[in-house]
Amino acid sequence: MKKILVTGALGQIGSELVCHLRRLYGAAQVVATDIRLSDNAAAHSGPFELLDVMDGASMLEIAKAHQVDTILHLAALLSATAEAKPLLAWNLNMGGLTNALEVSRELGCSFFTPSSIGAFGPGTPKKGTPQDTVQRPVTMYGVSKVAGELLCDYYHQKYGIDTRSLRFPGLISYMAPPGGGTTDYVVDMYVEALAKGQYTSYIAEGTFLDMMYLPDALEAIVKLMEADPARLRHRNAFNVTAMSVDPETVATSIRRYIPDFVLNYHVDPVRQAIAESWPNSLDSTAATQEWGFSPVYDLGGMTKDMLENLSGRLT
Ligand code: SER
Repeated sequence: MKKILVTGALGQIGSELVCHLRRLYGAAQVVATDIRLSDNAAAHSGPFELLDVMDGASMLEIAKAHQVDTILHLAALLSATAEAKPLLAWNLNMGGLTNALEVSRELGCSFFTPSSIGAFGPGTPKKGTPQDTVQRPVTMYGVSKVAGELLCDYYHQKYGIDTRSLRFPGLISYMAPPGGGTTDYVVDMYVEALAKGQYTSYIAEGTFLDMMYLPDALEAIVKLMEADPARLRHRNAFNVTAMSVDPETVATSIRRYIPDFVLNYHVDPVRQAIAESWPNSLDSTAATQEWGFSPVYDLGGMTKDMLENLSGRLT
């Protein structure tokens, strides 16, 4: 990666990824794009262009003008929003991806886009979910992620485009909030624990899902994109995870710092059904073997860092 274009740059992953990449590769080397401008640091610490990923011609123009060699395509709707607006989700997630892959093909760019634990479904083994297994998701988000994985592999096989991807679990971060996801409750719980000393979870007790702290996700993207292609047996997409938690596990971890923290439940049937269709814990051995995936943060480390950073922001 030398000159990098990021779509969805002001979203949850993008706003921290752009800053991370600018520290590693130089501010001028990372072109942030998003459909809207905000006061986010990613928009003001280097080149920024307004871009609707549905507009393939503009995407090509921007990529050409900045002579990028890598596209990191992040713009997409998350699971709960996609379930509320399935047709929009299909059109945006697949339309944006197709445009970004076409630009990569035209300019010979390396390509990354996130897949998700949402690419699995009820027929997938729930514990120790293997790298290569059943992928029959029952959500529109998942359908678009599986189709996306296949399309990225197709562009690699058919056109030789260097496409790579990660099946991210729920990503936890304090800078930009996630929006419209099922795993967002973990982020909400930290915020509300500090602000109110209590949280009402829309996900039921005992529902385990994979999670990862965002710094580990950023490191994983860079490591995967810099990996020797000769070592990659898989491409689209690698299982990655750092922990498997349910709401009570997170609450217990928070109580080390806020002993009186109260966790209540008011389960949202839509997001609960999505969560129940996903794995409990992924097997990320392939990522470790093929490009050295090794997350640093466990639940305890993440909780400490989240609460420290959020309390700095809340005061
Ligand atoms: N965090 C995402 C969601 O909940 C999963 O990839 O939609």
